[in-house]
Amino acid sequence: MQDIILQLEQKRAEAKLGGGKVRIDAQHARGKLTARERIDVLLDEGSFEEWDIFVEHRCTDFGMQDKSIPGDGVVVGYGTINGRLVFVYSQDFTVFGGSLSEAHAEKICKVMDQAVKVGAPLIGISDSGGARIQEGVASLGGYAEVFQRNVMASGVVPQISLIMGPCAGGAVYSPAMTDFIFMVEESSYMFVTGPEVVKTVTHETVTAEDLGGAGTHTSRSGVADLAFDNDVDALLMTRRFFNFLPSSNSERPPHRETEDVESRLERSLDSLVPENPNQPYDMKELIVKLVDEGDFFELKPDYAKNIIIGFGRMEGNPVGIVANQPMVLAGCLDINASVKAARFVRFCDAFNIPIVTLVDVPGFMPGTAQEYGGIIRHGAKLLFAYAECTVPKVTLITRKAYGGAYDVMASKHLRGDVNLAWPSAEIAVMGPKGAVEIIFREDAKDPEKLEQRTEEYRRKFANPFVAGRRGYIDDVILPRHTRKRICRSLAMLANKEVENPWKKHGNIPL
Ligand code: HXC
Repeated sequence: MQDIILQLEQKRAEAKLGGGKVRIDAQHARGKLTARERIDVLLDEGSFEEWDIFVEHRCTDFGMQDKSIPGDGVVVGYGTINGRLVFVYSQDFTVFGGSLSEAHAEKICKVMDQAVKVGAPLIGISDSGGARIQEGVASLGGYAEVFQRNVMASGVVPQISLIMGPCAGGAVYSPAMTDFIFMVEESSYMFVTGPEVVKTVTHETVTAEDLGGAGTHTSRSGVADLAFDNDVDALLMTRRFFNFLPSSNSERPPHRETEDVESRLERSLDSLVPENPNQPYDMKELIVKLVDEGDFFELKPDYAKNIIIGFGRMEGNPVGIVANQPMVLAGCLDINASVKAARFVRFCDAFNIPIVTLVDVPGFMPGTAQEYGGIIRHGAKLLFAYAECTVPKVTLITRKAYGGAYDVMASKHLRGDVNLAWPSAEIAVMGPKGAVEIIFREDAKDPEKLEQRTEEYRRKFANPFVAGRRGYIDDVILPRHTRKRICRSLAMLANKEVENPWKKHGNIPL
C-alpha cells in the first residue's frame, strides 16, 4: 500500500509540473503566472478540488505517442470564492502551448456540465495556442463541444472569461459567448486571424497588441469588459466582481451587510446639474453617491463612454446601473452605447439583478456614420432589452429625456416600475431650441421672436410636470433624497413577479 501511495504522490507531483521547470520559468519571465498559480490566487485558500489530473491525450500522429503530459494542458475543478462554489478551468501554456486537444476539451466540458447541473458559475482562464495542430479535426470538434455548452449555460449560470495569454482563431468564440471578458495588459490578445494572415489578406501591418491586445478590446472593439495590469490584479478583481453575481438564474444575487443607511442624505447632489442645460456634469458622481459605500464596479469604462454600466449595491443588495454620461457626446445614444447597455440589461435580467437607470439623454446620435452603421437596428437592441426585462426597474431622470431615447431608457411605458425625476428634468420630444426652429419656422429670421418662443417652450415642456400629470413620472424628488427613494423603491419591488408570454425565444434585432 505504501508503494502505491508513493506512486500516486509521484504521479501527481509530475502532473503538477506541467511542461517542466524551463517552460514554467519562461512563463514567469513573461510576467505570467502558471495555470495552477492562477487558480491559487482566484480561489479561497485550500478550496480547490482538482479533477482529471491524470487525463492524457490519445493522439498517435507526428510522434505524439511519445509525448504525453498528465493533465494535457488544462487544470480543471471546483472551489470557492468567498465561500461560494465556482467551477474553473485554467489552460496551461507550458503543456503544448495550452493547445486544445480532444481530451483537453473533454476536461473543460466536464466542469461546464457540472456547473450547470449544480447551478454554480464558471470561470475559464485562457492561455493557449489554439487547436492542437497534431490532432486536426478532433480538436475542432472539441472546441465546438465547448461552444455548445457555453450557449446552453448562457443565462443559467454566470460565465466569466479571463484572457491571460494568446487566444486566437476560432478559440475566441468561447469567451465571446460568456458573460464577461477580462484581459491582462500586454500579455493577452484575442483575434480571429493573427498579424501574418492580416498582412497577407489585407496588406495591413499591425502588431498582435494593436490587433487584439487588451487596449484594443477594451476601448475600440468592446469585446472585453476590463483590462488589468497583471495576472494577480485580474484574479483579485475577479474575486471582487464575483461577489455581485448570483450563482445561477434561480438565485438572487448575494446580500452583503452594510453600515450605509438607506436614509443617507447627499446635499451636494442638489447642485450637481448645472444651471445651463448644455453644460455637462459627471454622472459618475451621482452613481458613487448613490450606491452603498461608494462601491461601484464599472464595466467597459473605456468603451462607448457616453453610457455607463456596472454593479453597485443598495442596502446590501446588488443592482445593475445603466446611466447616460453627459460628459461624453452629451450622453447621446449611439450604436456602441446601445449595444453596450443592451447586453448588460439582458445579463441583469437573466440573473435577477434589479436595474437602476439614470437618464440624461438628448436623443439618438444623428449622422450618416450612425445611420449607415445601423443605429436603427442597434438602438432597437436596447429598446428590446428594456422592454423584455422583468426584473425590478427603477428609473431616475436627472435632466434631459428627449425623443425616442426617453422611451428607451426604462420609461414607464416599457414597464418601468418606479420612475422618478429631479426638478431639473426636461421630458420632451426634443430640446427647446430644436423644437421651436421646426414649429415656428416662420420666425426663423427674427432672433428675438425665436428666443421668446424658445423660452415659452422651455417653460411649458422643459420640466418633469407634463409627464408627471400623466403619471409617466411617479414623483419629482429632491436630488438629496435620491438614495432613500431608490432604496425604498427597490425594497418595495423585492418580490416583484412578471412573466412574459410563452415563446421559444424572441427575435431581438441582432
Ligand atoms: C500544438 C502548439 C500549438 C498548437 C503552440 N504549441 N501552439 N502545439 N498545437 N496550436 C506549442 C509549440 O510547439 C511549443 O512547444 C509551445 O507550444 C510553445 O509555443 P511557442 O511557439 O514556443 O511559444 P510562443 O513563441 O510564445 O508563441 C505562442 C503562439 C505560437 C503565438 C501561440 O505558438 C503559435 O502561433 N502557435 C500556433 C497558433 C495557431 O496557429 N493555432 C491554431 C489556430 S487555429 P514546445 O514543445 O517547443 O514547448 C485554431 C482553430 C480553432 O485554433 C478553431 C475552433 C473552431
